[in-house]
Amino acid sequence: MAFLSKNMARIPASQTMVVSNLARELAAAGQDIISMSTGEPDFDTVPVAASAGIEAIRTGQTRYTAGDGTPELKQAVQAKFKRDNGLFYELRQISVANGGKQVIYNAMAATLDAGDEVIIPAPYWVSYPAMVAMCGGTPRYVRCHASNGFALNPVDLEAAITAKTKWVLLNFPNNPSGSVMSAKHLLAIAQVLRRHPHVHILTDDMYEYLQYTEEPFVTLAQVAPDLYDRILTVSGMSKGYAMTGWRIGFAGGRADLIAAMAVVQSQITANPCSIAQAAATEALLSAPDHISAWHQVFIERRDIVVSALRGIDGIQVHVPQGAFYAFPNVEGLYGRQDPDGIMLNTAADVATYWLKSAGVAVVPGEAFGYPGHVRLSYSIATDRIRQALERLSQACAALL
Ligand SMILES: Cc1ncc(COP(=O)(O)O)c(C=O)c1O
Repeated sequence: MAFLSKNMARIPASQTMVVSNLARELAAAGQDIISMSTGEPDFDTVPVAASAGIEAIRTGQTRYTAGDGTPELKQAVQAKFKRDNGLFYELRQISVANGGKQVIYNAMAATLDAGDEVIIPAPYWVSYPAMVAMCGGTPRYVRCHASNGFALNPVDLEAAITAKTKWVLLNFPNNPSGSVMSAKHLLAIAQVLRRHPHVHILTDDMYEYLQYTEEPFVTLAQVAPDLYDRILTVSGMSKGYAMTGWRIGFAGGRADLIAAMAVVQSQITANPCSIAQAAATEALLSAPDHISAWHQVFIERRDIVVSALRGIDGIQVHVPQGAFYAFPNVEGLYGRQDPDGIMLNTAADVATYWLKSAGVAVVPGEAFGYPGHVRLSYSIATDRIRQALERLSQACAALL
C-alpha cells in the first residue's frame, strides 16, 4: 500500500522553489541578492495593532478563544465591512481564521465534493489550485488576457461555467498582475453570474486597501446586492495593515457556510492566536488612515519599475493598478543566449538568469499559471528597486 495519499499527486508542488533555493544558495555564498519575490508590505505593522497586541499579552488574553473569532473581533470585522464596503453581515455570518489562506481553505473544505469544479481566473494566486485539489475539487482556468490589462472577460467566464461549477474565485486587485476591477466591470461579471444561480463566488479582497485608481475599490457583493447570498467576501490583515505574521483573515457570507467553515477550523487549528485577534480588533476599529501614505510610496515605486522595464528591449509591461506587483511579459527575451551560451526559453529561465547574473530574485509566471511573464514585487526599499532595475537592464543588454 502506498504511503502518500493519491490526493498528494493532485497537489501542485511549489514552482517557486528552484529560484528561491538558488537565491538562498547565492546569498549564503556572499552574493548581494535583491529579492523582488516577496509577497508582503515592507512597512511595520500599524502601531495601533502592535500596541494592542502587547496589551493583550500584559492583560492575559493568552488563552483559547471562540473557535472562529472572538465576539469583539467579529464586531470589529462587522464594522469594517460596513465602513469600507457598505456591506452588512450579522455576527453569525462572520468567520475569522489564521489568515485569508485558511478562510479560503475552510470554504473549499466545507463545500467541495469530488468532481465539483472551481473556476480560477489566471494568472492566479499560487495557493488556489492546490487548495481546490486538496479538497477534492477540480480547478478550471480562465485566462485573463494581458492585452486587456489582465481583466476577466465576462464572455470567457461564462464559457467556463458548467453544471459542475461550484465556485468562481475572484481576486482583484490581483496577485500577481496588479489588475483591478471597476464597478462597471464587476456589474458585467454579475450579469453572467445571475444566469447561473448554482455558482457561488468567493471574492478574495486581500489587497482591497492597495488600489491606486481614482475610482475606489469595490467588491462584488456591494455592486450586486442580489447576489449577496452567493458571495463569500474574504479579506484580512496581512496586506492592508502589514500584519502578515500575525495571521488573521476573515470573511462574511451566508450563515450556513460560515457555520460549516467553523467546524472545519475547529478540527484543525481551533482559534487564531488570541493576541493577534486582539491586535486586529483595535486595528479594524480605527480608520485605515495609514493607507494614503502607503499609496504614495507604492505608486512612486511602481512608476520606477514600469518605466525601467519599458526601457528594456524584449520586455512589455502593463501598469499595475493595485497590490505591489508588476507582471511583465518577458517572451521577447526568449531565443537569446546568456554570456555562458545558455538559451532562454521560458520565464523560469529568465528568472534564473536574472538571479545568477544580476542577483535579483523574481517569481516566474509558471507559478501563477501564466508562463511568459515574471512577477516583481515592489514592496522593498525604493533605492533597492532602482538598483535592481539597473542591474536587470544591464543583464538583459548582455544577452546575445
Ligand atoms: C491573493 C491572496 N489571497 C490570499 C492571501 C493570503 O493572505 P493571508 O493568509 O496572509 O491572510 C495572499 C497572500 O499572499 C494573497 O496574495
